[in-house]
Amino acid sequence: MSQPLLRSRIAVITGAAQGIGYAIASRFVDEGARVVLGDLDAAAVAAAAERLGGPDAAVGVRCDVTDSADMDALLQAARDSFGAVDIMVNNAGITRDATMRTMTEEQFDQVIAVHLKGTWNGTRKAAAIMRERKRGAIVNLSSLSGKVGLAGQTNYSAAKAGIVGLSKAAAKEVAHHGIRVNAIQPGLIRTPMTEAMPEKVWEQKMAEIPMGRAGEVDEIASVALFLASDLSSYMTGTVLEVTGGRFM
Ligand SMILES: NC(=O)c1ccc[n+]([C@@H]2O[C@H](COP(=O)([O-])OP(=O)(O)OC[C@H]3O[C@@H](n4cnc5c(N)ncnc54)[C@H](O)[C@@H]3O)[C@@H](O)[C@H]2O)c1
Repeated sequence: MSQPLLRSRIAVITGAAQGIGYAIASRFVDEGARVVLGDLDAAAVAAAAERLGGPDAAVGVRCDVTDSADMDALLQAARDSFGAVDIMVNNAGITRDATMRTMTEEQFDQVIAVHLKGTWNGTRKAAAIMRERKRGAIVNLSSLSGKVGLAGQTNYSAAKAGIVGLSKAAAKEVAHHGIRVNAIQPGLIRTPMTEAMPEKVWEQKMAEIPMGRAGEVDEIASVALFLASDLSSYMTGTVLEVTGGRFM
């Protein structure tokens, strides 16, 4: 039998109580990793860690990614529980959709803070730990919205495009420390975030997808696994689109 791809690796995943983050954590555990899940929702993240096998395999930590002290505590939890940080997935996210005519400054700031500052916090703080062992893989969740810009998402498109620039700049800074930084741009994926969408908007998006269906969280988790594992050992600063061909 082949070796699990993440045998003995320790991964930290933000926004992992549900949706894409949880699917990534679950896939990583299946491949031999031990995981630390961070999420704003303390009860949900504790329950998620329990479902993944409890303290020997998964630890849940309440964490607001916009708060640098919370990010320090999340990464410290990985070191305290499992001894290191090999993989960091910056996945936590929110949407506050509205056209520019109606979007409030608060809605703009919230989305920029969670995605952009949160990913910056996770990337810089994980890299600072990984460089001690001269190895690490960081995976950041961007979005197709950051590639093409979507109406009603000036905040989210800006943040997700920003994550691409951030990931590439970070990749250049830390490559010589053995740390890789890559990003994923999912298209329309079925999660609690997208299930909140009105039916009409969902149908409009579906019509734009050559493969004719929404993606499943496991299809993002597979690509995160690829970028987190040695399968992608010569890749850094890349952006992988996982979109069923939408806006290729
Ligand atoms: N679902 C999609 O179609 C899609 C498409 C492109 C990109 N994405 C991105 O993938 C990521 C995951 O999306 P999802 O669909 O699973 O969303 P989701 O809403 O199902 O899950 C997001 C999780 O992040 C947590 N979170 C929110 N703010 C946080 C904060 N400040 N600190 C820590 N945790 C926080 C939430 O509590 C939740 O558990 C997001 O970055 C999202 O922008 C999703």
